[in-house]
Amino acid sequence: MKVPFIMAPMAEISHRALRELIEVFGGCDEYFTEMISAAALLAGGPFERWYLDGGPCPEKVVYQLVGADIGQISRAAALLDRLECRGIDLNMGCCAPLIRKTGAGIAWMTSIDRAGELVKEVRRVVNQRLSAKIRIGFTDDMEYLVRFCHRLEEEGVDLIILHPRTAKEKFKRLARWNYVGALRQELRIPVAGNGDISNAKELIVRAQGGCDAVMVGRAAVRHPWIFAQASGIAAPPLPILETGVRFLELLGRWQPPEFHISRARRFFGFFCDNLKWGNHVKNLLNREETLSGIERAWRGYFESVDKPISPSD
Ligand SMILES: Cc1cc2nc3c(=O)[nH]c(=O)nc-3n(C[C@H](O)[C@H](O)[C@H](O)COP(=O)(O)O)c2cc1C
Repeated sequence: MKVPFIMAPMAEISHRALRELIEVFGGCDEYFTEMISAAALLAGGPFERWYLDGGPCPEKVVYQLVGADIGQISRAAALLDRLECRGIDLNMGCCAPLIRKTGAGIAWMTSIDRAGELVKEVRRVVNQRLSAKIRIGFTDDMEYLVRFCHRLEEEGVDLIILHPRTAKEKFKRLARWNYVGALRQELRIPVAGNGDISNAKELIVRAQGGCDAVMVGRAAVRHPWIFAQASGIAAPPLPILETGVRFLELLGRWQPPEFHISRARRFFGFFCDNLKWGNHVKNLLNREETLSGIERAWRGYFESVDKPISPSD
């Protein structure tokens, strides 16, 4: 049986418009949302309804929560548990200084007891699948990682997603997938792996051994057809030009105007890597301040190149 393919949580990227686009190509098995702040969710911020939009396939959506306060996270998790979804995820891996310094994200990995307490409280109020997305930790210490995960397992986490890098590594060093296999040997619950998959072939190889599910982040923005391709679904129905235009339409429809430009820049920051002159196109698009301006600049680039561009892998 094929292991599930999962779209990673990525701030300003993993929203409904991208899910809609990936579904055009055949979809994937699960979609994590970008991290949702527990505090903002409880405060009922003006944009929360956009973060909570699980369309077009809520049954495949996993809401990821980020926060530093156990009470806040469990109250927010209780709200999410009422929605139709595939599960709820706790962000215990984000290394962005603004997140980590508040005690959120990977800061949870500094204390096994505190992380255990968090899971215990959240488990009390969540009936749906509960997962935790983590990294190796602050240092390269397998023994600590195993103890940390054993505690999460004891307190009721159903799935661990391991992005096998330490806190400091960012994307500098390659993800150490051997940690995924090694961790899986130690736990009763499933372990998903994530990191550095760049095309459908690599996704297939990772899915063939050593993990219970495979999560893909940046490559799924560059190649929204990656999951379909790895599942043997026929060639993408849309060329690069039309895929970009379709994304802009979806962004206009499924995200609030305040998010349009930041989200378009995030998407094209990766998607332009499909083009020979990708950096040049990124710069052109970044000068634009409206979705229609971005579309004009995007189409303009294709008019200026003399050979048709088709999806690359
Ligand atoms: C722009 C960006 C935003 C991200 N935001 C989140 C996030 O909100 N929550 C999270 O757990 N990880 C986040 N990540 C990490 C990814 O989920 C993933 O672990 C990482 O990109 C490695 O996977 P990849 O090599 O397939 O991209 C983010 C990564 C990127 C590049």
